[in-house]
Amino acid sequence: MLQTSDPRNKNIKVYVGNKVLSRAEAKVSVFDSVVQGGDAVWEGLRLYPQGIFCLDRHLQRLVESAHALSFEAVPSKDEVKKALFDTLKANDMTDEVHIRLTLTRGEKITSGMDPRLNQSGCCLIILPEYKPPVYDNAHGISVITSTIRRNSPLFLDSKIHHNNLLNNIQAKITANVAGADAALMLDKDGFAAELNGTNIFIVKDGIVKTPHAHACLPGITRGIVLEICKTNNIPVQECNLSLTELYNADEFFCTGTMGELTPIHTLDGRKVPRLTPNEKVLPRLISYFEGLRAQYCELS
Ligand SMILES: Cc1ncc(COP(=O)(O)O)c(C=O)c1O
Repeated sequence: MLQTSDPRNKNIKVYVGNKVLSRAEAKVSVFDSVVQGGDAVWEGLRLYPQGIFCLDRHLQRLVESAHALSFEAVPSKDEVKKALFDTLKANDMTDEVHIRLTLTRGEKITSGMDPRLNQSGCCLIILPEYKPPVYDNAHGISVITSTIRRNSPLFLDSKIHHNNLLNNIQAKITANVAGADAALMLDKDGFAAELNGTNIFIVKDGIVKTPHAHACLPGITRGIVLEICKTNNIPVQECNLSLTELYNADEFFCTGTMGELTPIHTLDGRKVPRLTPNEKVLPRLISYFEGLRAQYCELS
């Protein structure tokens, strides 16, 4: 499934540095760290009429990622919130919006890897676009397993939500070549980690299971699904999951801000059983998720 450009995004306004600019003017310097080394952290946010979903959790992950990478002069969560809501107001946006929030290490005084060349603080980019959930959540998606491993803390900790997305992009290329919607990435030991851009869950014998967050981004949506299970007495486990367990799951789905909760109908050509809605856990999780959305949304 290839995303298309939404005509409503033709004249959007984008925040770069400390200015709200037209789409055509919104640019970063060639000296910016994100250009030089993918040296940036980011979050994907979703705006509903009730506000931005789980805003505080996203901003906490953004500042923690920046702290782990030793960024200097990181804007406070309140400063980022103000810039976010000012940008949404400038665009008159209230719903069906995905916001790509990026914080780069900023401009360098000359090209090079050394963070001491960054002497003017971070650069904040707020890119809001009209973009309803990107997957076909009614019919689900197909997935293929990639040979590209998701990073473990041995190499580059997946808990940092950074812009070095090359291994995920390579995995997505595997999916594209195979005609699948997304790629499953394994950890260094061969257990499932996550898809190239979303977290995964299976249901087996009524138990909801998801991989440990050892080699995946601990997604905010993943966290909400775990909380929903715990508060509604739905048995849930974080555990190692091998491909054989995935192939034999009763249900299989992925979670993320981009697509919300999405059923997976095929993995490596193996069909996930077509249970009736009454037998399934996922429709219950989706209805809890939609029911509590308003209480997790934040407005300016
Ligand atoms: C690699 C990866 N996994 C999972 C997710 C889902 O995380 P969240 O639920 O916080 O959107 C993302 C989102 O950016 C991601 O990039």
